[in-house]
Amino acid sequence: MTVRRIPLVAGNWKMNFDHLEATYFVQKLAWLLRDAHFDFKRCEVALFPSFTSLRSVQVLVEADRLRVTYGAQSVSVTTQGAFTGDVSADMIAHLGCSYVIVGHSERRKYHPEDDANIVDQVRAVLAAGMQPILCVGESFEERRQGIELDFAVGQVRDVTRDLSDEETSKLIVAYEPVWAIGTGMVATPQSAQEASCAIREDLRETFGADVADAVRILYGGSVTSKNAAELISQPDVDGFLIGGAALDVDELAKIARLVSKSTQGR
Ligand code: 13P
Repeated sequence: MTVRRIPLVAGNWKMNFDHLEATYFVQKLAWLLRDAHFDFKRCEVALFPSFTSLRSVQVLVEADRLRVTYGAQSVSVTTQGAFTGDVSADMIAHLGCSYVIVGHSERRKYHPEDDANIVDQVRAVLAAGMQPILCVGESFEERRQGIELDFAVGQVRDVTRDLSDEETSKLIVAYEPVWAIGTGMVATPQSAQEASCAIREDLRETFGADVADAVRILYGGSVTSKNAAELISQPDVDGFLIGGAALDVDELAKIARLVSKSTQGR
């Protein structure tokens, strides 16, 4: 049986765009995709604005009944209380978010987000009825040592160890080698496939085929419309988590169209 996972093109805006710029971007993206008769059944498109833009995106998506989905870039591990500056999973869910990015390498680097904290974020996101996009991936050092596959698989294991089959099946994993993020040095399609396949096979061993086949595995790191078609042709690459190229609406729409085209033969 061939397994059908709808590919996901996710734009991580990081700390870019205020709510006015976000509104303009979403309107233009919707217009570009509508103009291209984009089929959302073949490819899902999701945006990850700053917290301050989520409400504006929600209003627009609901008012114009747009098919674009969206989510947050991080979440608090606690539900409420005296945690100045934090935002809870329920607050994010009430803004219509479907997803939260968890454990992005920039969060791991600039904030005290260790494995225990990342597991708690995943649990908080699931408890609020959303899906976590768990980011993993080696730095240049692990790649130099040739241990990149074990490293990425290990990062997924560290988080899924305490999760049930059902919880794990709701995860989305983003394989984002740190050396490829924002550098223009994209992983080869073979290497993106190898890592995605290693992650999926490990999930299969631990949780069984149903879970392994359900989890979407994205590639992230210097994705552009020039390399997207080859990367998405890999059987275990189910879409992209895009930074820089997702700040250019024409470029993001182009990548989404390439991905949707690639599913025609899947
Ligand atoms: P770039 O696409 O800019 O390399 O960023 C990738 C990323 O970090 C997405 O989360």
